[in-house]
Amino acid sequence: MGRSTIGNMIDNIAKWLLKFRIISKPAKYISNSKLAWSFVSRTDRVRTKKLETRIKNEELPNHVSIIMDGNRRFAWSRSLERDVGHLRGKEKLKQVMEWVLNLKIKYLTVYALSTENINARGSEELESLYDLYEIGLNEIAEDPLIHSKNVKVQAVGRIDELPEKVKKAIKNAEERTSSYSDYIFTVCLAYGGREEIVDAVKDVAKDYAGGKIELDMINSEEISNRLYSAEIPDPDLVIRTSGEERISNFLLWQIAYSELYFTDVHWPSFSRNDLYEAIESYQYRRRKYGK
Ligand code: FPP
Repeated sequence: MGRSTIGNMIDNIAKWLLKFRIISKPAKYISNSKLAWSFVSRTDRVRTKKLETRIKNEELPNHVSIIMDGNRRFAWSRSLERDVGHLRGKEKLKQVMEWVLNLKIKYLTVYALSTENINARGSEELESLYDLYEIGLNEIAEDPLIHSKNVKVQAVGRIDELPEKVKKAIKNAEERTSSYSDYIFTVCLAYGGREEIVDAVKDVAKDYAGGKIELDMINSEEISNRLYSAEIPDPDLVIRTSGEERISNFLLWQIAYSELYFTDVHWPSFSRNDLYEAIESYQYRRRKYGK
């Protein structure tokens, strides 16, 4: 039962009690009391802990990738500025990294900016997104957790198309973590799955034209080896937040056999429980295929 369901139950009990004047005071107390809400959040924590134990007893995905969608809808639904939504999205990413690391999942890949975003978003929004990537990547480069867990950070996409300040922040995060290999965190920026395949095909064509490879040698492995993230295994699980059930040009080649999980929750509201539920769903589906 979610926080809102339990909260609604308490509200309903309080409303019912309010019908009888004599008990309006205790009813108000129940609906407003810290105790009631502490009970709700305690129940939530217990539920999440139980789910954590359950998913840790099964095989966890090795590579989780996330389409972080819904920053603006999160903001607008709360009458907040658009950029506040993106800022909360950046903060959420830090939290999710921590949860994923705690589960010892080696690969985490996130979609932070698509080639379509660059063409479709207004220059003012893009500017504030670029500021956010600069700040966020520099924060990641300094993050004690990244260094204590030996997380290698890298950005993939058409990085040349990004402003200088973002490139500098990418370089900083990559250089400061280049010697690590226990975990790999990949940020897709100015990224498009089709563009990635086009770039790989161009590379194959160049080698073919230069006589380095023969026509018969061109196979899916040759393409895979030339993708931006060639050394990373394909994602086991792709999560997309905020209700849209499409892939939007994310890792098109790599997700051929990935499990897809869609949730209505906007990215800034994505909780530890939401992550665990996605993983539980992945484990359930994999178990079924195995039978
Ligand atoms: C999609 O939501 C989100 C983005 C285009 C930006 C995502 C960026 C972050 C979460 C910050 C990442 C930070 C670092 C350091 C990598 P949307 O704007 O499309 O929202 P909507 O679907 O509600 O319109």
